Amino acid sequence: DSDRINVAIDGPAGAGKSTVARKVAEKLGYIYVDTGAMYRAVTLAANRLGIEPHESDRLKKLVESIHIRLKPVVDGQIVLLNEEDVTNAIRTREVTLRVSQVASHEAVRMKLVDMQRELASLKGIVMDGRDIGTQVLPQAELKIFLIASVQIRALRRYQELKENERIPLQQLEQEIADRDRSDEQREISPLSCAKDAIVLDSSELTIDQVVALILDLSRTKMAEAK
Ligand code: CDP
Ligand code: CDP
Repeated sequence: DSDRINVAIDGPAGAGKSTVARKVAEKLGYIYVDTGAMYRAVTLAANRLGIEPHESDRLKKLVESIHIRLKPVVDGQIVLLNEEDVTNAIRTREVTLRVSQVASHEAVRMKLVDMQRELASLKGIVMDGRDIGTQVLPQAELKIFLIASVQIRALRRYQELKENERIPLQQLEQEIADRDRSDEQREISPLSCAKDAIVLDSSELTIDQVVALILDLSRTKMAEAK
């Protein structure tokens, strides 16, 4: 359709990006792309080979040699690393603790950003990450910068932990704050709000309220795109 748009959703960890992006895509009949999953897949591959997150040259060789694929499914996406389904394996704490440092390397970002732009070459994409509105899809018709207080984001993540993953809430909050800082301060494509992004604070909102707000904004942009 001529009125299809692209939606970019950025923000810090636990703001609700992937949850709401998935639902918005479902409602619009769009494809959801979780770019964080791609950085996580590279990190998983590095961990398995014993590559440390500071080993720039080894990481460069690694991203050049691995194959990452996102397969859209009804309720989200499947992540394939060399055709192995790693959708769950990329969510472990070992990956989470290292992903931000792995994502700071230029070679890693160049390869993944190329893939992300390619995925969005047709309109009708909802993409979430840290640099989608600023770097990956600066032409996206709708840009959302989703935020929430670090306490609330930590609590949300805490409630998602499985029995065998329990760590103190305080520690989780510290880890999220550290990752925010590292994502905001890296040299290449740091987490930042695009000038033309709409800032949504989800601290006091339910998932459905955030989804409804983004759907309203999307429909306005779609009408403009016609
Ligand atoms: O889901 P969560 O917020 O924990 O993180 P994610 O979206 O899976 O992203 C994991 C990490 O990948 C982030 O902390 C960033 O370091 C990196 N990332 C990035 O650098 N650029 C993106 N577009 C997406 C993720
Ligand atoms: O992708 P991102 O790291 O930004 O956040 P997420 O993985 O979607 O995680 C957010 C968590 O907070 C999920 O467990 C959601 O159910 C919950 N939540 C939300 O996303 N939005 C709200 N307004 C309230 C709760």
